[in-house]
Amino acid sequence: MTSMPHAHRLLDDTARDILRRNDRGGYTVPRPGLYPFQWNWDSAFVALGFATFDMDRAWQELETLLSGQWADGMIPHILFHRDDEGYFPGPDGWASGTRPRSSGITQPPVAATVVRELWQRDGADPTHSRMRALYPKLLASHRWFHRYRDPLQNGLVMVVHNWETGRDNSAEWDAALARVSARDVRPFQRRDTSHVDIAFRPTQAEYERYVALIEFGRARGWDPARVAAESPFRVVDVGMTMIMIRANRDLLALASALDDQPVVQELRARIALSQRGCDWLWNEDLGVHCSRDLVDGRPAALVTSASFLGFFAGIGSPAQRARLLERLAALADSVPYLVPSLAPGSRSYDPVRYWRGPVWLVVNALIARGLDEAGETALASRIRGDSRALVERSGFWEYFSPETGQGCGGDQFSWTAAMWLNDLTTAST
Ligand code: DGY
Repeated sequence: MTSMPHAHRLLDDTARDILRRNDRGGYTVPRPGLYPFQWNWDSAFVALGFATFDMDRAWQELETLLSGQWADGMIPHILFHRDDEGYFPGPDGWASGTRPRSSGITQPPVAATVVRELWQRDGADPTHSRMRALYPKLLASHRWFHRYRDPLQNGLVMVVHNWETGRDNSAEWDAALARVSARDVRPFQRRDTSHVDIAFRPTQAEYERYVALIEFGRARGWDPARVAAESPFRVVDVGMTMIMIRANRDLLALASALDDQPVVQELRARIALSQRGCDWLWNEDLGVHCSRDLVDGRPAALVTSASFLGFFAGIGSPAQRARLLERLAALADSVPYLVPSLAPGSRSYDPVRYWRGPVWLVVNALIARGLDEAGETALASRIRGDSRALVERSGFWEYFSPETGQGCGGDQFSWTAAMWLNDLTTAST
């Protein structure tokens, strides 16, 4: 039998190999074939994996991502640096007219959090040139969110496409997507289902609505004000909101180090606004924060893994935090592997279908970090232990069944490898 440290060293080697193999020179694809371009939040997480063995390459991942920032500040969710026929919708489907070519929507803003982390690993020197070069770009991307994606002016984050949330087919979006008509969508050929088991992916009816939303934005030339005002899909995402609050705190730390006082004041005010705003997402019956529809005002009323990012964001009253912990403890008793993306027993729960139940290690890492910072170390250790056990049992899959630990979606997955290296390995090197 192989001893644990030895087994972990082999897993470390495999994880580094995955990152090197998925490296396309300056950026990393999440999974060749299935996702052959640069994805926004994937890249930010991947940088943390590179940071464990190649700091230069870690910085480069973010620099390449930010090289695709739009003039208005948005960081697109996909950068199409090279052609690849194996993915739909490709650059022509988005027709954003940018260089590098890109999609017309964004993704969870984890970049500032990762830049702060890399800068700290490098010694937290305020004169660090790579941090200083990225700082104004990060600030522009946060201001883009504040300007175009906060229609209630209460510090929360609105999305105009479910793909922006990163939790593509979460049941949280079902009601809002039901209003999106796919009647005029021209026939298209999906590519994702030729790479992975169709049971692991969104359904065809869902996919048609995703495409309808792209056609909607494209028809408006991706004008951020028009899309935000008119999109048939307008939802405040609890996950994006929590990640944004955290990102503002991390950007604030950089602004303080640079002694950029106007920005320090601006970000402090933003964080305070968001802290108050989160009460609009609180669901007293369930004892968690939930996403909420902006068209009809209805809460999603579902317990998802994103509901537990409040600790990472540093928000919530003591009473709310106690309820969140109760909920998480109840989930811990109900599944062998935390944290399911949708609580078992919810409508549309499916342990293997993408964001309708499976465990994703990047979300686990954010939740565990928040719990640790809040002093809830027992639950944080349980989550990290479960993440570790999933990789040991199944390998570096895109996501995992919370019931059996089965690996699902794509294998040899970049961000899962990165989370192993950054957060989970216990091997002494
Ligand atoms: C996909 O193609 O499934 C991606 O998640 C979109 O970003």
